[in-house]
Amino acid sequence: MEKKKKIKRVIVIITIGVLLIAAAVFIVFRFMGGSHVGIDNNPEAPPQGNINTLVVYFSWSGNDQKMARWIAEEKGADIFRIVPADDYGSDYQACADRAKSELDNGTRPELAEHIDSEIMAKYDTIFLGFPVWWYDLPMPVWTFLEEYDLSGKTIIPFFSHNGSSDGANTLNRVKELAPNSDVKADDAISINGGKVASSEKQVKEWADKF
Ligand SMILES: Cc1cc2nc3c(=O)[nH]c(=O)nc-3n(C[C@H](O)[C@H](O)[C@H](O)COP(=O)(O)O)c2cc1C
Repeated sequence: MEKKKKIKRVIVIITIGVLLIAAAVFIVFRFMGGSHVGIDNNPEAPPQGNINTLVVYFSWSGNDQKMARWIAEEKGADIFRIVPADDYGSDYQACADRAKSELDNGTRPELAEHIDSEIMAKYDTIFLGFPVWWYDLPMPVWTFLEEYDLSGKTIIPFFSHNGSSDGANTLNRVKELAPNSDVKADDAISINGGKVASSEKQVKEWADKF
């Protein structure tokens, strides 16, 4: 009898443990994975520097690309996509693991696309878009910000997320990596990834304020 009770207790404990693990996995995936509109890998037209505004973005699953393209359209601005030389692939877990290890190790991934410094010098305003990754700025954006002399330029951040609606550490990170720029962190727009598809009007109206 005592033995039966013990076995029952062990089964209950194991069941609760399994349920807790499943719930944790579900929450992490829901929170981190998020919804997305899908990335378009067609290259953007190369920036020419004939206007003073440039929209720069990094996007893995398309949300920030969508926002970037709306902003560029609204402002008649040039656009530049931050493209890592070694892409993050399409598997969420592989992307998440690599992103975490890059952040932990301070890795600056090499970029595949670059802007001529003379052309970069022509812009005085940069809209900078990115997803929140592990509560911080994705490392390719670190590489971008460190590659160029952005002093004296105005940087206006925009981002999407799946819960970190205040951008977690991203906005402070932009300020830290572009210390001589005027980073409009308080004016940044934040859109939940699941709402990006229906936010064209909101994003364009926001861009019009600048
Ligand atoms: C590697 C990785 C890490 C993420 N970390 C966070 C996070 O810390 N906080 C959050 O709110 N969302 C996080 N997300 C969700 C993305 O920020 C969200 O889905 C975003 O809209 C994706 O933008 P994109 O389509 O432009 O790549 C993460 C997504 C990935 C792929």
